[in-house]
Amino acid sequence: PREPLVLGIESSCDETGVGIVRGRTLLTNTVASSMDEHAKYGGVVPEVAARAHADAMVPVLQQALADAGVTLDEIDAISVTAGPGLAGALMVGVGAAKALSQATNKPLYGVNHLVGHVAADLLREDADAIEFPAIALLVSGGHTSLIRVNSLSGDSEMLGETIDDAAGEAFDKVARVLGLPYPGGPHIDRVAADGDAAAFKFPRGLSRASDHARGHRYNFSFSGLKTSVARVIEGFEDRDETVPVADIAASFREAVVDVLITKALAACADTGIPRLLLGGGVAANGRLREVAAERCAEAGVSLHIPPLSLCTDNGAMIAALGAELVRAGHAPSSLSFPADSTLPM
Ligand code: KG4
Ligand code: ZN
Repeated sequence: PREPLVLGIESSCDETGVGIVRGRTLLTNTVASSMDEHAKYGGVVPEVAARAHADAMVPVLQQALADAGVTLDEIDAISVTAGPGLAGALMVGVGAAKALSQATNKPLYGVNHLVGHVAADLLREDADAIEFPAIALLVSGGHTSLIRVNSLSGDSEMLGETIDDAAGEAFDKVARVLGLPYPGGPHIDRVAADGDAAAFKFPRGLSRASDHARGHRYNFSFSGLKTSVARVIEGFEDRDETVPVADIAASFREAVVDVLITKALAACADTGIPRLLLGGGVAANGRLREVAAERCAEAGVSLHIPPLSLCTDNGAMIAALGAELVRAGHAPSSLSFPADSTLPM
């Protein structure tokens, strides 16, 4: 049978994304970002993000259809991020998707953003080699989640999450105290290249046996790490010494990467699932990709990371997830589902 042609809409944070796929084949991934507007505030401002989505939604939709060379008529189904994310931002995408569905009489699927990140892996050339269940580690400015994905069209289970800052947020906040621009991740990556990752021993949050005993085996915490970095910087400043930015960046990055991969591989070992999927903006981190590759190889775990353009928020991953639901024969959502900022798995 012909693979379903699905249009996916994403608006949970600061990216307005419309992607179009045919089954597991990517036709277009069109994204407009309001990142620059948030840069001067050092983080995403919800109201600014929502307004930017409202301005960008229809132009991005038109661009996506033009790039893919398809008309709305030809689309088989529409999918949209229903949550989790920023409430006002989500409402723009959900409202647009419902209006489109109503006007075109196409079925609509409201989907989970985090499962969408996992579905980005289906758009890889070797997607058919990815088996489920799999363990997914999603790391971005808004989330740090370890998920057991039983199947993309069925159930998934949250194994652990951050109890304070997201991993990307930690990169952004540490960049700020180091005097680097927002978003911090790429800048820390850049300056860390000349640094010594062993110069400072920063804490690995929730990694002690006592933390595990308290139910935090798969949870993350980055606020202690952030504080620890800030104290080291203050120490240099108090002594009127030059802050060793490269060494601090490299040591900080090493601490984040170490704890992320250690916990992800613990989940693989505990569940006996030798497959790890990485996603989210922080999956662009050079050191994270390197350490993940090394340690997965040692542990006999197969590793899948989407291309960079599909790691950050986008509509194509939402379309890919929609296509899986259509293929699996799922019933569409009713047009009354809400945008849900805390949508569970
Ligand atoms: O997935 P994303 O584009 O948006 C959401 O937050 O959902 O992720 C953005 C986050 C930012 O915190 C940014 O600093 C981080 O991803 N990031 C990185 C890198 N590139 C982007 N973090 C570490 N290393 C990078 N190379
Ligand atoms: Zn995301």
